Amino acid sequence: MDLSRVLEFPVKEFFKQPRSLLGAGAYENAGPEAAAMGLKHVLFVTTGLRGTGIIDECKTNFENAGVSVSVYDKVETNPKDYNVMDAYKAFSESECDGFVSIGGGSPHDTTKGARVVAAHDGRNINEFQGVNASEKLENPPHIAINTTVGTGSETTPAAVITDLSSENAPHKWVAFDRAMTTTLAINDPVLCMTQPPEYVAYTGFDTIAHGSEAYVGRVQHLSCTPVALEAVRMVTENLREATYNPKNFKAMEAMVWAQYMAAQAFSSALLGILHSLSHAVCAYYDIHHGLNNGIGIARVWTYNQPAAVEKYADIATAMGEDTRGMNPVQAADQAIDAVIRLAKDCGIPENWGQVSEYPKTRMGKGWYENKSSGPIQSDDEELQKMAEHMMNDLCTPGNPRDLTVDGAKEILRDCMYDGMERKTSNGYRQNIWGAAPAMGRRLHGYEGRGESASVGREPASTP
Ligand SMILES: [Fe+2]
Repeated sequence: MDLSRVLEFPVKEFFKQPRSLLGAGAYENAGPEAAAMGLKHVLFVTTGLRGTGIIDECKTNFENAGVSVSVYDKVETNPKDYNVMDAYKAFSESECDGFVSIGGGSPHDTTKGARVVAAHDGRNINEFQGVNASEKLENPPHIAINTTVGTGSETTPAAVITDLSSENAPHKWVAFDRAMTTTLAINDPVLCMTQPPEYVAYTGFDTIAHGSEAYVGRVQHLSCTPVALEAVRMVTENLREATYNPKNFKAMEAMVWAQYMAAQAFSSALLGILHSLSHAVCAYYDIHHGLNNGIGIARVWTYNQPAAVEKYADIATAMGEDTRGMNPVQAADQAIDAVIRLAKDCGIPENWGQVSEYPKTRMGKGWYENKSSGPIQSDDEELQKMAEHMMNDLCTPGNPRDLTVDGAKEILRDCMYDGMERKTSNGYRQNIWGAAPAMGRRLHGYEGRGESASVGREPASTP
């Protein structure tokens, strides 16, 4: 028996989770909580959330509690290194004593970065990639008020920042850093009900990405996997309703729980190549992280299926599929079909070519050549760069199946140009399954049990 994969994560880290408040009205506690921490003057870090009135309401809430507020509202989607450094600068110049991030993953991650920079006397945030890179663990307090149903960043030790200034740019990098855990996480479903429907869909696919990757990944952190699977179930049950009726409190509340639970799960169980894929594409095209996950999820589940077929069979059951009488391969196929139906029902585009608007002004190839947005297209050279970006992502080692540059390019090409339907007889799926050795099929007992069964499960090490 090959134990090498079992031993890849021999010691599990239980990342600390912050104190949290979850429920209707939770955000009204933010100001009093800040006062109870002894804070006098905080910096709000946000995209602005214009049109929602949330920032003004929160400001009043803090001021009524005796805490004055300055605001940095220039955070961009896929937060950039300069967003972090600008937030740190605003914090220092306004002589603040605490941070309050309001919004989704972008302001939370920007704030985590700014706290680390503050603790290290203004050093560049790009120096803090990877696992536990902070040398100084004490940094300013951070209250995270979440308004989306995907990021989970308000409760995780993770941050994802885009490097646009070093020789590695464009590079969207990941940190899992114990010094980045927030001081207080606040989730209020009422705030999430202000989201536009497409953002509910996109962020919901971030949640199912977190849950599924934590569940199938190599870390197999047993305190996390049941929670991760439950989050997948809750998204499947509630995302359609939350997308098309964001004012449905029950559906949105369930999505808030799902996003929170999925994030707690991946905080210690880590993620996989769906996130590597999304980070690479964001580095080059600057489109929404959850949207990328929605486009990529069926492709990545297809790629990973041979290495974690029983896990995907579990996911099919969690998603409400009737898999009685099926072998694990057939059941795992049902998971792929179910997630494709969910994506299509929630309006996720078939591929990146159908994503019509994206910034592409300062990043990727467009950073240098194309100053206007347009259909997303990648030539082989850019696919190669994105594939290499995926290979070097912090999330890739946790993936259940080894990734190769060629495998990454095939997934990227499929996401760029092909339909989302489950691949059964062409493309990278055939390359995976067609290569499954007969010994692997016999070992796992799937040979001669119907069409899907006949392709069997290949061993962990794949081409
Ligand atoms: Fe994510």
